[in-house]
Amino acid sequence: MLIPLVNIIWFSLALCFIVAFCIYTFSFKLPHKLDQVFQDLIRYGKTKENIKRPSWQLSFDVSKSYFFHFYAVSVLWNGLLLLFSFRSVVTGEAFPDWLIDSLWCLTGRPRAAWKELQLSVLLLQVLLWFHSLRRLLECLFVSVFSHGVIHIVQYAFGLAYYVLLGLTVLCVNACLTEEGAKSVPFSHQLTWYHVSGVFLFIWASLLQHRSLSLLAKLRTDHSGKVKSLAHKMPCGDWFEWVSCPHYLAELLIYTAMSVCCGCSSLTWWMVVLYVLYNQALAAQLCHDYYRSKFETYPCHRKAFIPYIL
Ligand SMILES: NC(=O)c1ccc[n+]([C@@H]2O[C@H](COP(=O)([O-])OP(=O)(O)OC[C@H]3O[C@@H](n4cnc5c(N)ncnc54)[C@H](OP(=O)(O)O)[C@@H]3O)[C@@H](O)[C@H]2O)c1
Repeated sequence: MLIPLVNIIWFSLALCFIVAFCIYTFSFKLPHKLDQVFQDLIRYGKTKENIKRPSWQLSFDVSKSYFFHFYAVSVLWNGLLLLFSFRSVVTGEAFPDWLIDSLWCLTGRPRAAWKELQLSVLLLQVLLWFHSLRRLLECLFVSVFSHGVIHIVQYAFGLAYYVLLGLTVLCVNACLTEEGAKSVPFSHQLTWYHVSGVFLFIWASLLQHRSLSLLAKLRTDHSGKVKSLAHKMPCGDWFEWVSCPHYLAELLIYTAMSVCCGCSSLTWWMVVLYVLYNQALAAQLCHDYYRSKFETYPCHRKAFIPYIL
């Protein structure tokens, strides 16, 4: 049986970050010019501050405060896909042809694979939409951005990421339908793994929100007025365990979504693998930045996963 394109894409993305993580962690020596490009592509925001970059590289910089564009695109695109799914469940109306064609390209499965939508998939779509909406609101009303930058490639990737993610959720339906869940009526599909997945999702979302709020409080006074744009040492809550609890929460959010499909979707596990290495790399860079900047940085604090990484 052919491996679906969607699995190949997510595995390749994960592999890129696994390789980047290894090159960075084990300090593999790259030719100077290649290393400059590599560092420019893996770093963003504060972790870009300490590296010397030639002027031609600066022309690819985009403000990090544009992060909200990713979530705005996600709310719109994934909201549209969610509407198609609701319509399909309620009225039985099929997905539009352009969407079926895209899903066929990604999975190689025929139109029939989306005739009956699984509860797990609809739940995943709802969770993804709420996650995007919360992140959009946090970017606009909670986080305080400094003058940090991201590479234009990272910006373009961030926009494409949420489009592909929405399509990937629908691809999961093909894999679940294949396993015979099709015969169970939609209203009888609710199981313990949907409930546990949603609980983990809510808990991880709260952890992420608290962590991002703590970061914002480092820059504001009690009335919420911005007092500084400096990068200070975060403390309190899960920051006592790891340098980046918001990245750990991101991994848990995607894991929770995997639990919602009974941990049975290889496609979604590929997405989780990508998030694991993407966030592990970002966390390690941030952790090293804090350790080099703050002499009193707690030595028991890990980068990403308490006691482990
Ligand atoms: N799924 C994915 O592929 C993916 C990829 C990337 C990010 N994310 C998620 O998006 C969220 C934000 O990620 P991020 O990389 O932007 O996080 P981040 O670098 O920690 O920044 C979050 C906010 O806190 C500020 N900040 C960071 N460190 C600070 C410090 N030491 N003192 C004061 N303020 C500080 C940042 O401002 P400045 O940076 O402007 O100074 C920004 O406003 C995270 O929850 C992450 O999990 C997901």
